[in-house]
Amino acid sequence: MRENIIAANWKMNHRASELEQFFQQLLAGYKEREGVSVIVAPTAPYLARAVELASPAGIKIAAQNMHFEASGAFTGEISASMVRDTGARYVILGHSERRHVFGENDEMIARKVKAALENKLQPIFCIGELLEQREAGKTESVVTTQLNAVLTTLNAEEMLDVVVAYEPVWAIGTGKTATPAQAEEVHRLVRGIIRGHFGDEVAQRITIQYGGSVKPDNVDELMSAENIDGALVGGASLKAESFLRLINFNAG
Ligand code: PGA
Repeated sequence: MRENIIAANWKMNHRASELEQFFQQLLAGYKEREGVSVIVAPTAPYLARAVELASPAGIKIAAQNMHFEASGAFTGEISASMVRDTGARYVILGHSERRHVFGENDEMIARKVKAALENKLQPIFCIGELLEQREAGKTESVVTTQLNAVLTTLNAEEMLDVVVAYEPVWAIGTGKTATPAQAEEVHRLVRGIIRGHFGDEVAQRITIQYGGSVKPDNVDELMSAENIDGALVGGASLKAESFLRLINFNAG
C-alpha cells in the first residue's frame, strides 16, 4: 500500500539549541512504524545538523524551499544540489507562503519540482485554494490548474518520487482545519487528476498529505480517510511531544 508520511514544516522557527532539544526529545520517544515515514523540515542553516541527528533513527530531513537554477547570480538562494549535499532527501515546494508571500507562480514551482527530481530530491509539492476561491466554488479549478502545471512536465517514473500535499490556505495556521470530508473530497479529486495523467497504478501509489491546522486531536480522524496518506504540519510539529502524537496517529 501507499506510504504514509508525517512531516514537520518548522517554517522560520527553531534555532540551533531548539533543534538539538527537539531531536533529543523526539528520539527518546520515537518508534518506527511500518508504512509510516517521518520527515522534519528545519531552516536551511541547520539541514546538515538535522541529518546527523535524525538519520540514525530513520527520520528524513527536508528543505523548505530551493531555487530551480543549478548555480549562478541568485543572491540568497540555494540550489537542489546544495540541498542534496546537506544529506536532506526531500524539499517542500510551492508552499502557500512561498506562493502568496513570496510570489512564486505555477511555472516557477514546476521548474523547481523538475530541478529537485533531477538532483534526486523528493519534492513535497503543495497545492491549495484561498478562502475566497473556496467560497466562490473554485476549489476544483484552482487545484486542477496547480496540479496540471507540474504534472504535465513529468513522466510516470518522476511522478512516483513526488509527494503531494493538499493544504487549503484558509486552514494554514488558523486553527480552522478542513473536515475529513472536505479534505477527502479534494484528495479524491487530486488522485483522479494524477490517474488521468499517469494511470491508476501510479495514482494508487502516490502519497497525498493533508496540511492545515493538523493537531493531536484531529489527526486520527483525518488519517482515517481513504485518500489522506499523511500530514504536513506547521504549528503542532514544533514540540516533540505533540509531533510524536501525530506520528502515532490511530495507534490506539
Ligand atoms: P499549520 O501549517 O499546521 O500550522 O496550519 C501547515 C503548513 O503550513 O504546512
